[in-house]
This record gives sequence, C-alpha cells and structure tokens, in this order.
Amino acid sequence: MLSRITLLALQVLAISAKTITYNWDVDWVSASPDGFLRPAVGINGQWPCPSIMADVGDRVVVKVHNCLVNETTAIHFHGIFQQGSNQMDGPAMVTQCPIPPGESFTYDFMIKQTGTYWWHAHVGGQYLDGLRGPLIIHDPEAPFVKEIDEEIVLTVSDWYHEQAPYLIQYFQSGLNEDLHGGSEPVPNATLINEAQNVHFPIKPNKSYLFRVINMGGFAAQYLQFGEHDMDVVEVDGVYTKRHRVSQLFVAAAQRYSVIVKSKRNATQNFAITASMNEDMFDEGVIPVNLNPLVTGWLVYDETKPLPPSPPAINYDGKSQNDIKFIPLDMQKPLGPVTKQIPLNVNFSQNVQNQNRGSFNNISFIAPKVPTLYTALSAPAELVNNPLIYGNNTNPIVLKMGEVVDLLITNYDGGAHPFHLHGHSFQVIARSGAGPDNGPPLTIPKNYSKNAPDAPLRRDTILIYGNGYAVIRFKVDNPGITLFHCHIEWHVEAGLTMVFIEAPTELQKLGLVIPDSHKDVCNKQGIHMKGNAMGRSGGSWLDLTGTPTLPDIDDWGALIESAQPTTVPGANPDPVNPKVRRSRVARFTDSWV
Ligand SMILES: *[C@@H]1O[C@H](CO)[C@@H](O)[C@H](O)[C@H]1NC(C)=O
Ligand SMILES: *[C@@H]1O[C@H](CO)[C@@H](O)[C@H](O)[C@H]1NC(C)=O
Ligand SMILES: *[C@@H]1O[C@H](CO)[C@@H](O)[C@H](O)[C@H]1NC(C)=O
Ligand SMILES: *[C@@H]1O[C@H](CO)[C@@H](O)[C@H](O)[C@H]1NC(C)=O
Ligand SMILES: *[C@@H]1O[C@H](CO)[C@@H](O)[C@H](O)[C@H]1NC(C)=O
Ligand SMILES: *[C@@H]1O[C@H](CO)[C@@H](O)[C@H](O)[C@H]1NC(C)=O
Ligand SMILES: *[C@@H]1O[C@H](CO)[C@@H](O)[C@H](O)[C@H]1NC(C)=O
Ligand SMILES: *[C@@H]1O[C@H](CO)[C@@H](O)[C@H](O)[C@H]1NC(C)=O
Repeated sequence: MLSRITLLALQVLAISAKTITYNWDVDWVSASPDGFLRPAVGINGQWPCPSIMADVGDRVVVKVHNCLVNETTAIHFHGIFQQGSNQMDGPAMVTQCPIPPGESFTYDFMIKQTGTYWWHAHVGGQYLDGLRGPLIIHDPEAPFVKEIDEEIVLTVSDWYHEQAPYLIQYFQSGLNEDLHGGSEPVPNATLINEAQNVHFPIKPNKSYLFRVINMGGFAAQYLQFGEHDMDVVEVDGVYTKRHRVSQLFVAAAQRYSVIVKSKRNATQNFAITASMNEDMFDEGVIPVNLNPLVTGWLVYDETKPLPPSPPAINYDGKSQNDIKFIPLDMQKPLGPVTKQIPLNVNFSQNVQNQNRGSFNNISFIAPKVPTLYTALSAPAELVNNPLIYGNNTNPIVLKMGEVVDLLITNYDGGAHPFHLHGHSFQVIARSGAGPDNGPPLTIPKNYSKNAPDAPLRRDTILIYGNGYAVIRFKVDNPGITLFHCHIEWHVEAGLTMVFIEAPTELQKLGLVIPDSHKDVCNKQGIHMKGNAMGRSGGSWLDLTGTPTLPDIDDWGALIESAQPTTVPGANPDPVNPKVRRSRVARFTDSWV
C-alpha cells in the first residue's frame, strides 16, 4: 500500500509535470575551445551544445533535424533507463536507424529518474566532434536539496583537433598497427565546460552543488578545487552517503554531484584543476608537448588576482577507488543470482591488420536491421533465439526477472570504462590493476561472499588494466540493452555487445515506433523487419553472408579518400615502435 506521503508526492508530480520540447538543428559550426579553430558539430548554430534541464515526472521531447549534409547522427540519453521506451534509447543500428542528412527524428520519453546525466551522439564517434551536453533532472525531494544555495554544472572532457571519422580511420588502419601497435589517438587538450580558464563566480559562506560530468571520449580526469573539499552525494544518478574527498576521479561518461562550501570570507580566488589520466595513453604516442591540465577558477572577487594554476596534479591513488561511495538506500546485493556470464575483454589484430576489441573473442559489427526491430518483428517462437540477432553483435538473451552477474576480466593492459544501457548495476567485486604484462588477476570463486553490504551502484565503471570486476543487475527492463566500453575509439573497434533483455515481454509492451523513426529507415533502404541480415518468412535462421570484418562506412564517414597515408603528429617510440600498453600499474590492491 502506498503511504500518504507517497500518494501526496505523486499528486504533486501529476500536477506539476510538464512537457519540455527542444527543436535541435544539428549542424557544423566553428569552435576553438582551446584556441585552435576547427569545425565542430553544434546545435542551432551554437557550440557548446545546450543542456537538457528537467524535473522528475516531466516528458522530454527532442526533435532532431540533421543539417550536417555529410554525416548521419543519432542521440543517446546516457543513464536514462528508457523503461518502456527502448525505441528512444538512441544507438544507431541497435534501437533505431541512423538519421541521414536532411531528415528529422523525434525522441519522446518520460523522466522517471533524478540526478546528473548527459546526452551524446551514438554513431561514428560523433560526440568527440562536439555533439554532447548535460542532462540534469531536478528532484524536489533530493536529500541535500534544502542545504543547497546554488547549483553549478561542471563538465570535464578531452578534446581533439582532428575530426573523429578521420581519427577512427587512422586508429583502425593497418598503418597504425604497424607503426604504433594500434594505439588510440591522444587528445590535444582538456576542457572544463567545453572551454578553458572558465570563471565560476562564488559568493562567500554558501553551499554549492557542483554537478560533475565527464563528457570526454577517452581519458579519465582527476578534478580538484584549490583548498576546497568536495562532499560526494550522488554517483551516476544514485544518491550516496555523504563522503568527503579532496580529489575526484571521473572516468569517461561518469557523473558525480558534490557539495562545496565556499569560504566565509573572500580574501583570494582559487583554481579548479582537471587533468587527464595519462596512464590510459600508450607510451610512445604521447606528444612531448601534451598539456593534460585545464584550469578554471572559483572567483570570489573579480578585482583580485587569479592564483597560479598548479603545474601538475598529484594523482592520488585513493581517489580512483569509487567503492567508498555507498548508496543512501543501502540496497543489499541482489539475489539469488540466476545467471553468471563471463566476459573476457581483449584486443587483437584481425586479418586486415586492424586492432579490434572483443568480448569473448567477438568483435561487434552492426547488423543490417537495428536489433530492436529484429526483436519486435520476430515470431514468438524465435525471439529468444540468439542466432537471429547475428553472431557478430554478440547477443545474449536474458529472461525477465533473472539476476545476472557479469564476470568481466580485462586481458588488456589499459583501463576501460564500461557502460550498461538501461540500468544501474551493483559493483559486487572489483580489482585494481593486474600485473603490467598480464595474465590478468583471477576473479575469486567466492567473490559473492566478499560483496559489500551495500555495493556501489552506477551505470559506468572503470575496470583497470589486467584487472576484473563483477557487476550485478536484475532483468526488469525489456529491450535491447547495449554494453560497451565508453572509450569512443573502442566502440568503433568493436568492444560492444548486446543483451536481448526479456524479448517475450518486449513484444507484449506494444512499443509504438513513431513515423519519424520509420521514415529515416525507409530513406536509407534499411529493413525494419527480419533477422540481423534482414531475412524473414521461412529464412529467420538464415544468417549467411554475416560480415566478419568491419565496413569502413560504419565509421560515420563518407571519406574513404581520407584513409590516412601518414599518421597524425605521432611520436613513434624509436626503440620499439610496436610496444603497446606498457605502463606502470599503480593500483594493485583488490578493492572489494
Ligand atoms: C554563514 O551562513 C550561515 C547560514 O548558512 C549563518 O548562520 C552564518 O551566520 C553565516 N556566517 C557569516 C560569517 O556570514
Ligand atoms: C577568513 O576566515 C578564516 C576562517 O574561515 C579565518 O581563519 C581568517 O582569519 C579570515 N580572514 C579574514 C581576513 O577575515
Ligand atoms: C588476447 O589477444 C592476444 C593477441 O593480442 C592473444 O595472444 C591472446 O591469446 C588473447 N587472449 C584471450 C584470453 O583471448
Ligand atoms: C578466445 O581466444 C583465445 C585465444 O585464441 C582462446 O584461448 C580462448 O579460449 C577463446 N575464448 C573464447 C571464449 O572463445
Ligand atoms: C575467498 O577465497 C580466498 C582465496 O581465493 C580466501 O583468501 C578468502 O578468505 C575467501 N573469503 C571468504 C569470505 O570465504
Ligand atoms: C557467424 O555466422 C556466419 C554466418 O552464419 C558464419 O559465416 C561465421 O563463421 C560465424 N562466426 C562465428 C564467429 O561463429
Ligand atoms: C563534413 O563537412 C564538414 C564541414 O564542411 C567538414 O568539416 C567535415 O570534415 C566533413 N566530414 C566528412 C566526414 O567529410
Ligand atoms: C593535436 O594532436 C595531433 C595528434 O597527436 C597532432 O598531430 C597535432 O599536431 C596536435 N595539434 C597541436 C596543435 O598540438
């Protein structure tokens, strides 16, 4: 039975809920956030892109018009579960067709969660070129709401001077494999609020809620405020017990809300510093002049000088361990666990000499029909059969109500921020980095016994080089649930897979696919029916011709001519150019 208070709260929500409509023309604009002018993907002629601001209970409608002329687009609302609205999730060829130039597409969904999220392009690495922004959901009942005087959104991100399609083609080229062992492009700069030297006006003796979002595509960031501590109160949309830190470590796509108390008196200004975690870059390709730092300012008094920015951040190993952020609701480990899924993460060269990422030796290649449409059109007796989704999407079918553990072992020396769509998951076990040159640490058989009483819950987790994690979630959100590394280079390299979550229940939901979604498929001749190869009728199980190699067009580009012949500005290791991912493993303790 609902309590009186819950009923009252629901009534208040019902009265105040509103529809927020955004009309977005996605187009090329010029941007120079670090002083280097380049084309960027903006909205309505502007970059940085706008934020989505909503209250819990609102309906958000985003009408996207693709004015890019030469690239497709698609938008994902990161961390939004899309319960009952999987067709609005955004990843191209998973829950929708990409939106071609000249076409419009409407996203329309209810906001049932609270906290700090973001939105970004989910096709061809496009968010690296600028198509990204905060998504903030206010909650009148948030545990800290009475205490806060003012709220400030603070994004950190990495930024490139070259455009993503070009960099992807370079990254996935045999040339890069030969010269640099398949190294990822290293960003040129770090940004705060898509700029540098940003001033945040601060009044004395106030409580500020900073909503921190890493909107970058590769580097984790260390963030600190000069002489101001941060009280963490939210992690990826989950309220947490208040925990004070002096440095915050934010992997790509992760978010935190922190309370910062301003000084009682304003005798000086203070620096805000963010720094890329250079451990994530391959040795031998880090440009000698790379500046991983960006500075912003807590400005109490514009007439006073700005203090010098610290020359470097002192990486505090403890700041990397997010297990200390305990959910306020003290949710116990879910159980009993009905399914354990081992996932081995690895990189290796394919027959085209491309550096491909994989789960269990399978590198993702997009199907010919968006996977959601395969699930919606399949006969009831086949919808639970993973074969119809194509073996190169690595489909795993999950049954409604199952409690699933993903046992993820990282055979790669680099750290990876893994993101599960549609859920926040419990972190049941997690190691620090394993031995520098492998083999990876082994997940203890009794990991469940050592689980924390109230495990960290979030939607993106960094798994360290040659380390592991076990994450747990309940199958309660019918739809196609993408799981992938949030390093954009690795998405394009195939470090992606799909869970086909409760497909029988999905078919019964009666999802309405809006006309704009059908139109963009029709315009490109993409089928909305059939298996991963677009076959139906008597041929649902016929997957012949399933590609085993990535298609260059998957990289959002119409630029085969731009296949690089020289490597952009890299700094080959003269001693051993093929050396890959040899770096100091700083954090070797087991954390759970
Ligand atoms: C600071 O603010 C608190 C209330 O938030 C108030 O009680 C206190 O007097 C203030 N102190 C100063 C020095 O303004
Ligand atoms: C400013 O406040 C601090 C305590 O927050 C105090 O130690 C210091 O003396 C104050 N300075 C001035 C100039 O009032
Ligand atoms: C990981 O990939 C390497 C090649 O890069 C290969 O030698 C190794 O056997 C692979 N390990 C697993 C567990 O797949
Ligand atoms: C992946 O490949 C490696 C190396 O070839 C092999 O040892 C391992 O058994 C394979 N794993 C799976 C899940 O197929
Ligand atoms: C789990 O197993 C490890 C050895 O793998 C052992 O050291 C530890 O005590 C065990 N923990 C529990 C709670 O059984
Ligand atoms: C995937 O299926 C295709 C078509 O049936 C087949 O050619 C290919 O060998 C399969 N690949 C794997 C890794 O099973
Ligand atoms: C698309 O056009 C923009 C603006 O002219 C240009 O900067 C960009 O490189 C082009 N992209 C591709 C993939 O050709
Ligand atoms: C940006 O990075 C690329 C790749 O490392 C490099 O080629 C280019 O020279 C850099 N640009 C600047 C201005 O540092």
